Amino acid sequence: MSGGSGCPFGPGEGVPAEHSAEQAHRDFSRSLSYGDYLHLDELRSAHQPVTEAHDEHLFIAIHHVSEVWLSLIVRELQAAMALLEGGITDAPLKMLTRVVRAQEQLTAAWDVLRTMTPADYLQFRSAFGQASGFQSQNYRMVEFLLGNRNPTLLGPHAHRPDLHGPLLAALHAPSVYDLALRLLAARGLNVPAEVLGRDVSRPYVADPAVLDAWLTVYRDPERHWDLYELAEKLVDVEDNFRRWRFNHLTTVERTIGFRRGSGGTSGVGYLREALDTVLFPELWDVRTHL
Ligand code: HEM
Repeated sequence: MSGGSGCPFGPGEGVPAEHSAEQAHRDFSRSLSYGDYLHLDELRSAHQPVTEAHDEHLFIAIHHVSEVWLSLIVRELQAAMALLEGGITDAPLKMLTRVVRAQEQLTAAWDVLRTMTPADYLQFRSAFGQASGFQSQNYRMVEFLLGNRNPTLLGPHAHRPDLHGPLLAALHAPSVYDLALRLLAARGLNVPAEVLGRDVSRPYVADPAVLDAWLTVYRDPERHWDLYELAEKLVDVEDNFRRWRFNHLTTVERTIGFRRGSGGTSGVGYLREALDTVLFPELWDVRTHL
């Protein structure tokens, strides 16, 4: 078996028996190469440590890969949400599965970053001033799409209309959970009008009637299979989000202890508070009442 068909950059169909590298295309003076297609020069040029500290490379690389995963998650979430407006089909569920897998990669990055000791970190800490993941537009977008909304978090992007505009739009659009509640209602389950017509720019507040509606779904999954599948997919997403937050928190604590964050918050205290955020409250409560 050639095994080449799975990779778009691999040897391709019809690889001769000897599998020689001689067979590979080697003149890219006039055709698109791997590096051209992926803009690897730009990618490499984004990697710019400002100190001689060995671990600054790791620090930058982990942030870069995290931003790439976050940006994929934003795309997949937005696409899934657009489709969910029309109902639950396999396509948005598949996209949510991809979100879950990408979150796992995001969380796995902490295992690599944890190899950096506080002393390693302090060698370059002064290099990035007030920069902080707190200012990650991709991360805020994920939070806003999932429903964790707070206009204060728009602040760091006020000077960049290209970043601020999409966040503001997401703040005023239904979250993925708002869409799920509309789907519950469309199926004839009782979701109060004030929940459906709520100000979506505000954080969602749990509602007993919504809990009852999800209980109906969870007590008879076969009958409401698509809603059940969507609900469990959302629980996967929130579960993974919590894991990322927890790993961030412990990595931060073991690296900077209880110092203030570069972004200006209290640091560990601020991140600990965020651990209490609940995005889809009734989907967690339903477990207690089954
Ligand atoms: C040792 C490495 C790291 C340290 C010491 C650290 C520290 C912190 C601190 C203290 C905060 C609170 C805000 C502030 O700066 O005042 C924060 C927020 C944040 N960091 Fe990190 N961080 C690290 C690595 C990362 C990485 C690799 C990412 C990946 C993108 C990241 C993403 C974020 C995000 C998204 C927030 C905002 C969280 C929220 O508002 O709930 N951090 N970080």
